[in-house]
Amino acid sequence: MGHKRPTITVIGSSNMDLVVRSKRIPAVGETILGGDFLMVPGGKGANQAVAAAKLGAQVYFVARLGDDIFAEHSLVNFRKEGVDTRYVLQTPGVPSGIALIMVDEKGNNSIVVAPGANRRLSEKDVEAARADIARSGAVVCQLEVPLETVAFAAKIADEVDVPFILDPAPACRLGTDLLRLVDILKPNETEASILTGVKVQDEASAYRACEKLLKGGVRTVILTMGSKGYLLADQEGMEFVPGVKVRAVDSTAAGDAFTGSLAVGLAQGKSIAQAAWYANYAAALSVTKMGAQPSMPTAKQVDEFVAGRKCKGKRR
Ligand code: RIB
Repeated sequence: MGHKRPTITVIGSSNMDLVVRSKRIPAVGETILGGDFLMVPGGKGANQAVAAAKLGAQVYFVARLGDDIFAEHSLVNFRKEGVDTRYVLQTPGVPSGIALIMVDEKGNNSIVVAPGANRRLSEKDVEAARADIARSGAVVCQLEVPLETVAFAAKIADEVDVPFILDPAPACRLGTDLLRLVDILKPNETEASILTGVKVQDEASAYRACEKLLKGGVRTVILTMGSKGYLLADQEGMEFVPGVKVRAVDSTAAGDAFTGSLAVGLAQGKSIAQAAWYANYAAALSVTKMGAQPSMPTAKQVDEFVAGRKCKGKRR
């Protein structure tokens, strides 16, 4: 970390993850016996906030929880992880977000989310954080909260001239009005396919999808491809960076580890390429542990991991 503590604002979802591990993901209509049940704090927004806080950043999290036991559990966890919760609100009479997650023996997962209070996150909630957004080195959003709220956050980030990072998950088609306000778009293969109509399955199709997104007005695209690596694309060119090989235990929230770390790197003043390179290691490390937030590494863990590995990229 640099001398000055980086500050970021994360606007997004918080869920409680109800996880079962099994040999494989069951087929439709099938019942199988799995391993032990696990309840861990998750949600793409909260995961990214915790990932950044664990790397040492000052993190403002703008979110909505319900008024149930899951909300209390999440709030305790945010405070334990060092996330600033002044903009985490609770909506009476509404359940908190819940995610049902199955993880197979290779670490792959299947997730269904009941958004609950995440659906109530409003433009007004984001407006309340304007002053802290303006002091941030990066603003991060995902798509588990209303699209109008995300668009409003992008508008504020633009007005106060802070880089806006959008992790477009879960994917949906996005209008050019929003895409033009995105400084860094970080889709995975599935999300890039939905956003562009190009079926992303290898390096060549990833290039085509990135070209389309850049033409749509996005300034930089980082298309992550799981263990294969990621493609970094902007108007200057494209660079494919291979993944960091690890023994996968649970890939849940690997993308969130990447996005949270990327935001911290930017807020530290790193170039996008340097920040993405570091995020690639943080994401790989997160895959070696079970659960979303418990798997987010600290800066010390990432630094030691980087020191023990090498990862080369080729510029096009
Ligand atoms: O990205 C992983 C997350 O997706 C999980 O923590 C789950 O809550 C869903 O939001």
